[in-house]
Amino acid sequence: MIRLFKITLSILSATTFGLASAATSAPPPNALWKNIKLLQEHHSLMLGSHAFQPGSRVVDVYTTDLANARENEAVRRAGSVAAVTRYPDGSLVVKENYDAHKKLTGVTAMLKLKGYDRADRDWVMAAYKPDGQVVSYGKVQACIACHAMVLKQDTVFAPPPAQLLPVAVWKAFFPKQAMSQQYVALLKAHPEAIVH
Ligand code: HEC
Repeated sequence: MIRLFKITLSILSATTFGLASAATSAPPPNALWKNIKLLQEHHSLMLGSHAFQPGSRVVDVYTTDLANARENEAVRRAGSVAAVTRYPDGSLVVKENYDAHKKLTGVTAMLKLKGYDRADRDWVMAAYKPDGQVVSYGKVQACIACHAMVLKQDTVFAPPPAQLLPVAVWKAFFPKQAMSQQYVALLKAHPEAIVH
């Protein structure tokens, strides 16, 4: 009887696994937003980031990167963001964008979800307004195209000034947005940090 029960269980779990791996869907945007809020409330900084680091453009003069324990554990183990080659399932990393007055203007996030988007390293890409309203969500190609520049880091950039993108790259993606002068100065001071 017990043996039969065990067999039934193993068949059941095999079926469940089969279904789950066929198509993994993203959590609803408001569920992910709740997790982002928790990181914000706990000031859960991504290792290597600090509050109000220099951002690239006038729309994000300051940025703060946050991360959950899974993401940070991978960074801690590897030694730095640049040394991580794969993040574990459930990793969450968030970038808060602030204007020159340090007012929050938007939030972007990447959630690692195994089986969600194998072609692009299984990240759910998300952008929100400060109040949680969704701007874009899912397999957002505009985000992926740029983040793919650091494919060897599983598409996660190290916070500035560790890694910087040239003005031409920012302009290619955001032609109407002016660069922050602080970022332009960083590019001059740290040419070795530029990702090509
Ligand atoms: C033109 C290139 C570019 C585009 C487009 C872009 N990003 Fe980024 N993103 C970066 C760079 C460079 C950083 C590192 C700066 C930092 O950490 O503050 C970054 C940082 C991040 C971070 C913090 C983790 C990390 O990689 O450092 C998240 C989360 C993020 N971006 C999500 C998004 C989402 C979501 C979109 C689309 C809505 C997007 N990004 C579009 C270049 C880009």
